[in-house]
Amino acid sequence: MTVHFIGAGPGAPDLLTLRGRDIIAACPVCLYAGSLVPQEILGHCSPGTRVINTAPLDLEAIITEIRKAHDAGQDVARLHSGDLSVWSAMGEQLRRLREEDIPFSVTPGVPSFAAAAAALGTELTLPGLAQSVVLTRTQGRASPMPAGETLTNFAATGATLAVHLSIHNLDGVVNELTPAYGPDCPVAVVYRASWPDQQIIRATLGTIKAMMNDAIDRTALILVGPALSQEGFDESCLYSTHYDRRYRPQSATEGSTNE
Ligand SMILES: C[S@@+](CC[C@H](N)C(=O)[O-])C[C@H]1O[C@@H](n2cnc3c(N)ncnc32)[C@H](O)[C@@H]1O
Repeated sequence: MTVHFIGAGPGAPDLLTLRGRDIIAACPVCLYAGSLVPQEILGHCSPGTRVINTAPLDLEAIITEIRKAHDAGQDVARLHSGDLSVWSAMGEQLRRLREEDIPFSVTPGVPSFAAAAAALGTELTLPGLAQSVVLTRTQGRASPMPAGETLTNFAATGATLAVHLSIHNLDGVVNELTPAYGPDCPVAVVYRASWPDQQIIRATLGTIKAMMNDAIDRTALILVGPALSQEGFDESCLYSTHYDRRYRPQSATEGSTNE
């Protein structure tokens, strides 16, 4: 018996790995985080699967369901939205499974920041503008931020920021980022990337607040940084005609190669 943690992707039911789909189909029990995982993903479950929405459950009740399946020798598909490596609450479940010697596997999923970038048709790391992406959030009711992980600190790097779980705090995000990035810095808010009701709002730090609408109250990402402008950047060396690299050496005799 194994508990298979599966990243269910940002929303569109076909933005799921083939591995994830096949594991879901093979498991007689499926636990899913119903607040963000769409019902369509459950269409990959086989007939007769015991399907449980964990949104109303606490950790103890979730572990009880897993224990029940473990005692019955039944594999469990455990679905969380996006990828499991960020804000999935997988860590606390894995800790309990390790304590109880219950085997598990982890299958990654498409994270929401990647789905948002795809919706924007944007590369978040553009040469000369940004070469780092910071996945972060602001403080929530139940989630204090560690000291040092402030937007002000991240903004000092000039990187592209993907601010999660913070659309309710857009004012605070704008106020904290404007001193470092300036009011003309491009911003994109992507609401429910890959869902049928996806919305995209492109603006600047100075204009974004006025451009928001009431429908966008959760499940949105705030992307900020100069790379969002998609202009004024350098071409990469990767495809540069004169750049000597391992897969396209300019001079075989010199034998000089670079990645
Ligand atoms: C609990 S976190 C889950 C993150 C998820 N594990 C991931 O890989 O993206 C939920 C937050 O992720 C972002 N999010 C999740 N799905 C999204 C989507 N389809 N479009 C835009 N933002 C999304 C929002 O900021 C939302 O508040």
